[in-house]
Amino acid sequence: MKWRTLVFGLVTAAWCLGFGTGVRDQSLREAAQASGMLIGTAVRPAQLSEVAYASTLAREFNMLEPEDSLKWEIVHPEPQSFDFSQGDQIIDFAVRHGMKVRGHTLVWHRQNPKWLTEEKYTSGELAQILEKHIKTVVGHYRGKIFAWDVVNEAFDELHVGELRSTIWLNQPGIGLAGNGSSYIERCFRWAHEADPQALLFYNEAEAEVVNPKSDAIYAMVRDFRQRGVPIDGVGFQMHIENLHADVASISTNIKRFTGLGVQIHITEMDVALPVDSNGNARAEDLQRQADIYRELATACLSHPGCTAIQTWGFTDKYSWIGSHSKQTQGAALLFDRNYRAKPAYLALRNTLAAR
Ligand code: XIL
Repeated sequence: MKWRTLVFGLVTAAWCLGFGTGVRDQSLREAAQASGMLIGTAVRPAQLSEVAYASTLAREFNMLEPEDSLKWEIVHPEPQSFDFSQGDQIIDFAVRHGMKVRGHTLVWHRQNPKWLTEEKYTSGELAQILEKHIKTVVGHYRGKIFAWDVVNEAFDELHVGELRSTIWLNQPGIGLAGNGSSYIERCFRWAHEADPQALLFYNEAEAEVVNPKSDAIYAMVRDFRQRGVPIDGVGFQMHIENLHADVASISTNIKRFTGLGVQIHITEMDVALPVDSNGNARAEDLQRQADIYRELATACLSHPGCTAIQTWGFTDKYSWIGSHSKQTQGAALLFDRNYRAKPAYLALRNTLAAR
């Protein structure tokens, strides 16, 4: 009896390790690599010393992006000083594990330092500050960051397709207010000067479907491409709420953008679920979540110009959704808080593997 128990134990252990069938289950990374896709995730440097975090990250992804480390308030804490320590730590991890790095983000209206937002600068001064910021940060990571979100969320939240009023556009702006998207153009040109090899993206929220906001971005990108402004891609953030994604419209939108010759990266995907006070979601919601990951991955994979799928974190232990929703939503990512793969993980992995 003891022997049978021992043999059973050994066989079970071997099977769990993947030797039972002779084929170990592919990781997400392996499935993506085989199909030429980039599979990425947002990363927080403080967590890199956690073994389960670091090993899951290296095993499952071939790309990463600092979640906050390259935002102004962290990388440019004082007018005359830059702090690259967090960003460098993340890049170092990526290099050691053969991963590509996306940069996020050079121009945004949020997470800016007080010295920038509370001081009254003239437009001329702001233009100088912004040019120096873009060239210093892109220059520091030249050849290390292959793609940058140059400008993030420059269009309004009302979805009428107008540019958002920000410090960079018109409060007081960098001197190009009233000239449509020319301040955005200027930022792309500065970034391109600092690293001509880097792919330059415009990144946006809630423009994944065809709507007035994505229409306006489409018009801007078409204009940029026609006039030779250096733009290579558009990032669709893909923060999905209420378990609802209009996949047909997203697919149509990917098609029209890639038709302009730019790439689409899905940059910040998560699918937030209602959670109880322990942070647990319902089983049926986890299944529906898996369907959404699968359907959106399928939509991306069906257009050759959609080249990256990135999630906004990978374990439910660390996700912005909790604080963003006052803890009413969560469980938005591929792994649970104990780094166990969720149905969403299997759905995404199998979709990549089937390509
Ligand atoms: C979020 C981060 O995840 C949080 O850690 C931070 O506190 C706030 O910003 N769109 C973006 C991201 O482009 O930069 C945001 O990231 C989420 C929404």
